[in-house]
Amino acid sequence: MAIAPKANIVREDLLRVEGVTKIFDGVVKAVDNVSLTVAIGEIFALLGGSGCGKSTLLRMLAGFEAPSKGKIFLAGEDITNLPPYQRPINMMFQSYALFPHLTVWENIAFGLRRDHMPKEQIVERVESMLSLVQLTKYAKRKPHQLSGGQQQRVALARSLAKRPKLLLLDEPLGALDKKLRETTQLELVNIIEEVGVTCVLVTHDQEEAMTMASRIAVMSEGYFLQVGSPDEIYEMPNSRQVADFIGNVNIFDGVVEEDESDHVTVRCNDCLHYVGHGISGNSGMSVGVALRPEKILLTKEKPTGEYNWCEGEVTEIAYFGAYTTYHLKLNSGKVIKAQELNNTRDLSCGLTWGDRAFAQWSDLAMVVLTQ
Ligand SMILES: Nc1ncnc2c1ncn2[C@@H]1O[C@H](COP(=O)(O)OP(=O)(O)OP(=O)(O)O)[C@@H](O)[C@H]1O
Ligand SMILES: [Mg+2]
Repeated sequence: MAIAPKANIVREDLLRVEGVTKIFDGVVKAVDNVSLTVAIGEIFALLGGSGCGKSTLLRMLAGFEAPSKGKIFLAGEDITNLPPYQRPINMMFQSYALFPHLTVWENIAFGLRRDHMPKEQIVERVESMLSLVQLTKYAKRKPHQLSGGQQQRVALARSLAKRPKLLLLDEPLGALDKKLRETTQLELVNIIEEVGVTCVLVTHDQEEAMTMASRIAVMSEGYFLQVGSPDEIYEMPNSRQVADFIGNVNIFDGVVEEDESDHVTVRCNDCLHYVGHGISGNSGMSVGVALRPEKILLTKEKPTGEYNWCEGEVTEIAYFGAYTTYHLKLNSGKVIKAQELNNTRDLSCGLTWGDRAFAQWSDLAMVVLTQ
């Protein structure tokens, strides 16, 4: 799933945020003591549900809101109190309204004209932006004569025209339908990488964050739950909340029995987990064991051994083309999801509604969640 851009990342920080808090009306803590660094060339995603403070944090980076506490540095310079127009930062808003009465060309030139850039330079800059977003042919059109994806690219060209050091994107693809979103995500990443601009992107769509970002901060109620690369966040979530928020997951509640440095065993209602890595915990402690549906193998035959399998009844089958999701109702009544790839025409595990089936997984498939 992740096509995360790893190239072009020089580990030199462009943006540094230190303990930033935003309190509205003396009570609402929209952003709560957030710290982060973003390296030059990175695409950093703020991911979280509605109202968790993503836009507020972005607006503070742009200078449209002043932090109640904390500091913001850009290339080592303290910009906390700098007005927006003095920051080498551009923000593309949640609804990237283009000027409807202006052509594509004029939309892109707008900010440059306002800054009194010499005319020849404007022409040169706009032409290069048009070619970058592959809209040279559309220069004379008005926004309403373009598709959603094309409008989005004009908005991006307009944001990049002033060559900001930092580009802030608030839900840049929110207005597009799913299919167009997916292609535009990749286009956007290519353009951002080509220009070499550093980017902070806000999204509530976890697939979008996984596809586009080099690192993701998962946010909830104004603070960061976890910051990491897409695969770290997906494979090693640090809490139930993150595991649950990113992709599909089965979480088994259980109690640690053996607690060794190279493995732990966790007793749950329906199975005994043997996890092939240690945790910082102790035997007897209550934990969750997270297991992604695609890491489960379904069979009709009973697995051998005592660990890492459970038995249930197939209660639901959903066919998604490339894969099929099965719901398995375990003896305790708990329902788990298992995803099987459809890499042959005949559905490989041959299960149907009402069948008894066994789910099994390897000792490196799961993550023990202690919080
Ligand atoms: N100007 C404001 N005055 C008072 N409260 C505000 C203001 N702006 C935002 N808030 C509150 O701060 C919290 C965070 O809002 P924010 O817009 O940052 O969320 P978000 O993560 O961008 O959500 P969404 O995904 O819906 O855009 C919300 O509870 C919101 O109601
Ligand atoms: Mg928002």
